[in-house]
Parts: sequence; structure tokens; C-alpha cells
Amino acid sequence: MRRAVAWAFTGGAHLLPESVEAVEALVDRGVCVTAYISAAGEEVLRMYGLLDRVVRACSGDYPREVVFERDEGKSFPRAARVFRGLYEAVVVSPATQNTCAKIAYGIADSLVSTLASLSLKARVRLWVVPTDVKEVVAKMPLTVDRSLCTGCGSCPPAESCPQEALSWDGEVVRVNLLKCNGCGVCIPLCPKGSLSIGREVVVKPSSLNMEILEKIRDMPGVWVAKSPNEVVKAILG
Ligand SMILES: Cc1cc2nc3c(=O)[nH]c(=O)nc-3n(C[C@H](O)[C@H](O)[C@H](O)COP(=O)(O)O)c2cc1C
Repeated sequence: MRRAVAWAFTGGAHLLPESVEAVEALVDRGVCVTAYISAAGEEVLRMYGLLDRVVRACSGDYPREVVFERDEGKSFPRAARVFRGLYEAVVVSPATQNTCAKIAYGIADSLVSTLASLSLKARVRLWVVPTDVKEVVAKMPLTVDRSLCTGCGSCPPAESCPQEALSWDGEVVRVNLLKCNGCGVCIPLCPKGSLSIGREVVVKPSSLNMEILEKIRDMPGVWVAKSPNEVVKAILG
């Protein structure tokens, strides 16, 4: 039987590119990966231009496929695959505070929290790579620097965006991140240099965050890792 892993993406930006690289590394080494993608995970992967890479890595013969939360109704039937002895591990990476809190308190009302809950009941090893373990510098998706966007009379980035993610109201350009796919074609078109991807912000985990992580660390069957690469190394041996 081919080796298979279920890899869940939640809506976290921290460790997101590293998580995509980790999935690609597993697939390159012959491991089938089913990607389980939360609704927020789908949006955030798209914003950073990473969704296509996950779909490419995880499309093929069963169980190499992508399961989107939006397709799964309220009972998440494809999460129950963990009972079939198909997966040697379930990985949640990146794991948002939202999903970590649900795992810690046994809440299973979303695709990824249900997958995690069922993996514990099926005694399949659950890896969690949380986003908020320490202070980090996070990179933002596309943003407008309002001090630079002063209104030009027309807006070449808004006129050229293939996703129609930018709108210009005659004064400032606005970004609809739910449409943006992070392609970046708009950035060099702004004569004022007001658009950028990767603007850095400092994220400091809250004390509640730390409590949640402590609780997860103490849960039998759960393995908390610092990075997706640590999980890949453990899986590949
Ligand atoms: C660009 C962007 C980046 C985000 N990064 C994080 C993050 O690193 N950690 C986190 O806990 N939430 C982050 N969020 C918020 C989550 O997406 C949000 O809480 C969502 O409800 C999580 O749902 P999920 O856990 O089902 O994926 C981010 C949101 C956006 C728009």
C-alpha cells in the first residue's frame, strides 16, 4: 500500500509557504497527500499565490486529492477517512489559533477541527504546527500604503488587475483580498509605489494562546512541532 498523509491547511499566514514546501517534499518522495483546506485556508493560500501549488501537488490518483471545506457540508464526510487505515499521520500546518483552540477543547465544527478530532478517535498520529508560539514577523498579503496613494487621475494597477481585486474610487485604490491571488502584476504599475506584498508586521501571541498550546501539548496522540519541515523529517525518517 502506498504511504499516505492527510495535510490540513488552516487560514494562517505564518509558516504557510513552508507548509506548502513540506507537502511538495512529501509528494516528491512518493507519499500521497490529501490536502484538507479550511474555508479561511483557501482564502489565505490564494492571497499569497500558493493555492495552485497545493492543488498541483495533491491532485492525482486517490487518495491524492484536495478536500475543500466549502464542498463538505456540515458533517465533513471525507474527514472520516481517517478510520480506513489510509493515513499514517494527520498534519495540521499551519494551525491557526482558532483551530488550535478547537482541538484543545474537543470542538469539531469545521473541516479541520473534525479531521483532528476524528484522527484522535481513530488513533492516527496528529501533528500540529501552530502559528502563534512566539513573537514573529509576519508578512502581509497585498496592501496599499495610503500615504503614497494620493490619486493620480487614473489607476493603472486597478485597470490591469486580472482578478478585478483592485478598485479605484477617484481618490484611493482599494484591495479586495478575497479576489486577490497574489500575482503581483499591479505592483510595478503604480507610479507612486503604493502597493506591496510582504509588508512586515509583528505578531505577539496572547496569554490565552499560550494556555491553548500547553493544553494541546499535554494531549495524548498529539505531537506539536515547531515547523512543517520537522514533521516531514519525522514522517520520512
Ligand atoms: C492574511 C491573513 C493571515 C492570517 N494569519 C493568521 C495566523 O497566522 N494565525 C492565526 O491564528 N490566524 C490568522 N488569520 C486569521 C484566520 O484566518 C481566521 O481566524 C480564521 O477564522 C481561521 O479559520 P480556520 O482555523 O478554520 O482556518 C489570518 C487571516 C488573514 C486574512
